[in-house]
Amino acid sequence: MSRARRARVGLAAAALGLAAAAHSQTGPFTEAQAAAGRSSYLANCAGCHLTDLRGANEARPLVGPDFMRTWNSRTAQELVAFLSVTMPPPPAAPGSLGAQSYVNLAAFLLHANGATPGASALTAASTVTIGSIATGTMSEAFRAALAAAALALTAAAQQSFKVRLRPVPIEASTAANTTGAGEATAALAGTRLTLRGNFAGLKGAATAARLHQGAVMGVRGPAIADVTVPGATSGAFTAEVTLTAAQVEGLRQGQIYLQIHSETAPDGNLWGWLVP
Ligand code: HEC
Repeated sequence: MSRARRARVGLAAAALGLAAAAHSQTGPFTEAQAAAGRSSYLANCAGCHLTDLRGANEARPLVGPDFMRTWNSRTAQELVAFLSVTMPPPPAAPGSLGAQSYVNLAAFLLHANGATPGASALTAASTVTIGSIATGTMSEAFRAALAAAALALTAAAQQSFKVRLRPVPIEASTAANTTGAGEATAALAGTRLTLRGNFAGLKGAATAARLHQGAVMGVRGPAIADVTVPGATSGAFTAEVTLTAAQVEGLRQGQIYLQIHSETAPDGNLWGWLVP
C-alpha cells in the first residue's frame, strides 16, 4: 500500500470511529418524551405521514435518507421550531398542539431515526445537531412498538357500534307482516358486547332476537348469540353478550347483524348491521 493510500485509509477509519462515537451518544431526549410524542404523532400526524412515517404524496417521509438529507446538519431546536410553526398544516391549525407537544414530537422523530434516548430531556433550545445523534434508520424495536401502538389505537377507536333496524327484505306477499323500525348501540369492552336498543311498529309481538355473523358484510350467516327482547310490538332491550375472538374480529369487519323475529314474521322481522 502506498503511503498516500495508507494515510487515506487511516483518515477514513478515524472518521468512521468518530461517527460511531457520535452515534453512540444518547439523547438529549428521554424515552418518556419520545413515548408522549408517539401518541401525539398517531393522533395528529399519521393521517398524512402514515403510521410508519414513510409519508405519502406531499407529506414527506419522516424517517430515512430523505429526512436526514434535510435535517442532518440542522439542530433539534430548528426541528422543534419548524414543527411548531408549520404542523399540522391547514385545515388544522399549525402550532395548535402546545409547546411541549412539539418538543415531544421532535424527540419521537429523533428516536424514529435511530437516536437513542437518554437521561437528559430535549428542550426547544437544544442545539444538538440532528446528524450527530440520528442515523436515519429506524430500529426494529421502535418499529414494533410503533405498530403495536397504532393497532391498539385502531382497536380502541372501533369499540362502539350503531345498528339501524329495518324490515327484513321479503317477498311482496309477506311485506304487510314485516313492519316496524328500531335502533341500537353496541359497546365492546374486551370480548364483552353490551347492546342497548328499542323497536316499534311490529305487526305481531317480538318472539326472539339473535346476533348473526355472515362471511362478509351484507351476507347473512348463522346465529351466534341470543338477545332477549320484550315480547311486544314495541319496547326497549339491553343485552350482554360475550363474543369469541373470531367474533370480535368479525364485528370489526362488519360481519355481525342483529335480527328480531315476531309472531307475524317468524323468519325475521327487523334486522340491522353493527357498524362503527
Ligand atoms: C394534512 C397533512 C399533514 C399533517 C396532518 C401533518 N403533516 Fe407534516 N407535512 C405535510 C406536508 C404536505 C409536508 C411538506 C411541506 C413542505 O415541504 O413545505 C410536511 C412536512 C413535514 C416535515 C418536514 C419533512 C422534511 O423532509 O423536511 C415534518 C418534520 C413534518 N411534516 C412533521 C409533521 C408532524 C410532526 C405532524 C403532526 C403534528 C405533521 N407533520 C402533520 C403534511 C402534513
